[in-house]
Amino acid sequence: MNSRRTFLKKGMVGVASLPFLSPTTGYQYALDHLGSASAGNEKDYWKMVRRQFPLKEGQTYFNNGTIGPAPGYVLNKMIDHMMHNNTHAAEVDYSNGSGTKLLTGYFKYEEIRRKIGTIINADYQSIALTQNATFGMNYVANGLDLAKGDELLNTNQEHGGGFGAWQLMAKRKGCIYKQAEMPVPANDPQQIVDVIFSQVTNKTRVIAIPHIVSVYGTVMPVEAICQEAKKRGIFTILDGAQCVGHINVDVQKIGCDAYYSSLHKWLLSPPGSGILYINPDRVSDIWSTIASYNWDNQEDHGFRLMQTGTGNPALMEGFDASLDFFNSIGADRWINRIKELGDYLRDGLQKMDRITIHSSTTSTMCAGITTYGLTGFTGSELQKNLWEKAKLQPRAVGEDRIRHSVHIYNNEEEIDKTLEVMNSL
Ligand SMILES: Cc1ncc(COP(=O)(O)O)c(C=O)c1O
Repeated sequence: MNSRRTFLKKGMVGVASLPFLSPTTGYQYALDHLGSASAGNEKDYWKMVRRQFPLKEGQTYFNNGTIGPAPGYVLNKMIDHMMHNNTHAAEVDYSNGSGTKLLTGYFKYEEIRRKIGTIINADYQSIALTQNATFGMNYVANGLDLAKGDELLNTNQEHGGGFGAWQLMAKRKGCIYKQAEMPVPANDPQQIVDVIFSQVTNKTRVIAIPHIVSVYGTVMPVEAICQEAKKRGIFTILDGAQCVGHINVDVQKIGCDAYYSSLHKWLLSPPGSGILYINPDRVSDIWSTIASYNWDNQEDHGFRLMQTGTGNPALMEGFDASLDFFNSIGADRWINRIKELGDYLRDGLQKMDRITIHSSTTSTMCAGITTYGLTGFTGSELQKNLWEKAKLQPRAVGEDRIRHSVHIYNNEEEIDKTLEVMNSL
């Protein structure tokens, strides 16, 4: 639903009436009002959102593609839980169903999984909570019964968390590992579909590709790829590390067999918040990799795939809180803002002669990540100049480019400063 309309309908509290918030009490107060503030002044609204983060004034974080900064509300939930637990440990009656206060990996965390299910359009039983994207890839690669001669297909633009397990399987089981060569910049979805299927043969067992490419931010035409793969009986697994909280993800519409993500990136969850979705039609093809009591649970496959033993329950508090934070702003409003800022940056860069944009500029194929270079400068030099001149922090990638991520805690003025520095070089 159009977020602006939802907002106006709810419209109870004016943005301007929300105070500058103190770290401890203010974050909770603001969370309660993020969804009900009236849409009168968008600029004020996003300023108020920015104040939900303990990020330092006068500095700008543009490296969300590496890790998202957690909102204060999320951090407080975690810190409170750790302190409370370690103070009141003796009061917990473990036999009384209160175990989640002490441990993690023996419990279903149904509520968190349901919230994630609403975001990615899946039943909670098809979702496992994992530490991160890397775990998701490894659970599937290790869980599939792969055989000698099976072909495993990646692109040549994978993160290590998108290729490592497939290369390992190729070496260990005698599978054939292949990569499809992606165009740079990638501006035509059909070209990507074509390069992927140019590598497919009747031995291809798995297509494992990113939904958003780490280095360039390309939003891949995954629906077309998964549908074509399905016709050929090929297992599809999407690396969505950069996606949930960045663009809309609807795993059923995409039609993939598996999907994993790191919610500590764009959903701004605490580090160590990952998910793995497996299509119910294919879940019995995936063996458990990490096994404990419920390794063979056939009623709740997501739970079967999260048998990780003791972990940190404060992290789960933070994970849950980050989902509430996301929902209180609303998926559409959040995602549209990222796209709006991404477009604002790309529009500014496109007006500059010496800039080369290596990312897609096709509207459906780009969102919050833009990778670009400036003639005569290395990526590290650009990063250094942006920090030294204006305290802006994107990330150098490769030799001659920087990757610039924008998120809801950023704003147009920070992007203008970036363009000014670029112009001055
Ligand atoms: C596309 C992609 N896949 C996988 C990963 C690995 O994520 P994690 O370290 O959270 O497992 C990243 C991290 O940047 C990524 O961008």
